[in-house]
Amino acid sequence: MSGIIVYYSTYGSTREYAEALGEKTGWTVLPYGKAKEADIQPVDTVVLASNVRMEKLGINKWAKKYKAYLTGKNIVVLAVGANLYENQTYYLKTTMKSISFLNVKEENIFGLSGRKKTSDLHGMDAFIFKILEKIIKNEKTRKDFLDDFDRFDIDHLDGIINCLSVIK
Ligand SMILES: Cc1cc2nc3c(=O)[nH]c(=O)nc-3n(C[C@H](O)[C@H](O)[C@H](O)COP(=O)(O)O)c2cc1C
Repeated sequence: MSGIIVYYSTYGSTREYAEALGEKTGWTVLPYGKAKEADIQPVDTVVLASNVRMEKLGINKWAKKYKAYLTGKNIVVLAVGANLYENQTYYLKTTMKSISFLNVKEENIFGLSGRKKTSDLHGMDAFIFKILEKIIKNEKTRKDFLDDFDRFDIDHLDGIINCLSVIK
């Protein structure tokens, strides 16, 4: 089976996971901006690797644009967020809701935890977090939303690698 990995990453953690997956599978890895119908058409499987932003997959718009070409392919989703790896229910629900138009099979959805450093945020993201810092008073909520975190763990790719080896 042939495949391609298309990713949407703002600060790099999703890109790193996508590139590591590319090394394991030997599949081409492309940022969403460079992935066109000619890249999708010849392959059987498309891995959509995307960060989660405001409860939505960043790759949502791109997937909608290429829906006609993605329909009928094996679609596997790698969703990267702040939530813990153990909280697969969150990633499953968020993915199903965000790209319901693709009818992705539940067993093809994998959540991974990324990282966030507030000092790296730019543009609207930096602005949003500045506002959140001002308005969130509760200590636990501040910790959950505002603290930097690094939960990047390459070993957590094993689940998706197994899934792809079955498809392959
Ligand atoms: C503006 C913004 C919104 C975010 N919204 C969510 C969210 O709704 N759910 C979640 O789990 N993580 C959320 N995160 C955390 C990112 O998904 C996480 O930092 C991820 O590792 C970013 O991936 P990237 O480095 O590939 O951009 C958000 C981060 C930012 C900056």
